[in-house]
Amino acid sequence: GQVPVICVDGPTASGKGTLAAAVAARLGYHLLDSGALYRLVGLAADKAGIPTDEASLADPTTADRLGALARSLPVRFEGESTWLGDEDVSDALRAESAGMAASRVSAVPQVRQALLELQHGFRRLPGLVADGRDMGTVIFPDAPLKVYLTASAEQRAQRRHKQLISKGIPARMEDLLADLKARDHRDMSRAHAPLKPAEDALLLDNSSLDVEQSVCQVLDWWQGRS
Ligand code: C5P
Repeated sequence: GQVPVICVDGPTASGKGTLAAAVAARLGYHLLDSGALYRLVGLAADKAGIPTDEASLADPTTADRLGALARSLPVRFEGESTWLGDEDVSDALRAESAGMAASRVSAVPQVRQALLELQHGFRRLPGLVADGRDMGTVIFPDAPLKVYLTASAEQRAQRRHKQLISKGIPARMEDLLADLKARDHRDMSRAHAPLKPAEDALLLDNSSLDVEQSVCQVLDWWQGRS
């Protein structure tokens, strides 16, 4: 049969990455952080001098160049580190600016198409946990378990705030909340692969759950799948 996949989709800062990594570790499965791929395209575009502002993206030539860039992304994952060519981009990837750039380039169909095969390549035995926006709807529609993770925008902004402050990065709640809402809106309203729960997704609101409780819920669903 097919290699099993657990999809974890949801909005920005819902805790998908943490949950997916914990579930993957518990099951000994591979992990796909699909957002990192879009962040990498954003960084690579910057490096190559390809503009990613809204107006430039509407130009078909720019969209094609971004698609070509995404198809030949010189990316390597080495343990905890991510390399783009000869540059360790592990930290640059996590910056808010990389997330915003990712959100812009991810609306380009040529980019989504280019990353499709790359993502399918992560589906290897004994199994995969994949987190993103369209894992259950577009990339792995046959996945036996699809989780749609949510939390209120305020909760998510608060978590992001705590994260940044603990890393010594100054941040204002109002700015974070506004950025989050802008990103949610863009991700949910785009024409190609918008963020939405798959029809057969199970909804998990982790507003009042800690990580361990969320992990247990997903593992329960996984064990109980038909
Ligand atoms: O999850 P993360 O914040 O790293 O994703 C960054 C951006 O990449 C998202 O805001 C979204 O626009 C885009 N993305 C996507 N499809 C995915 C994963 C991420 O469009 N599967």
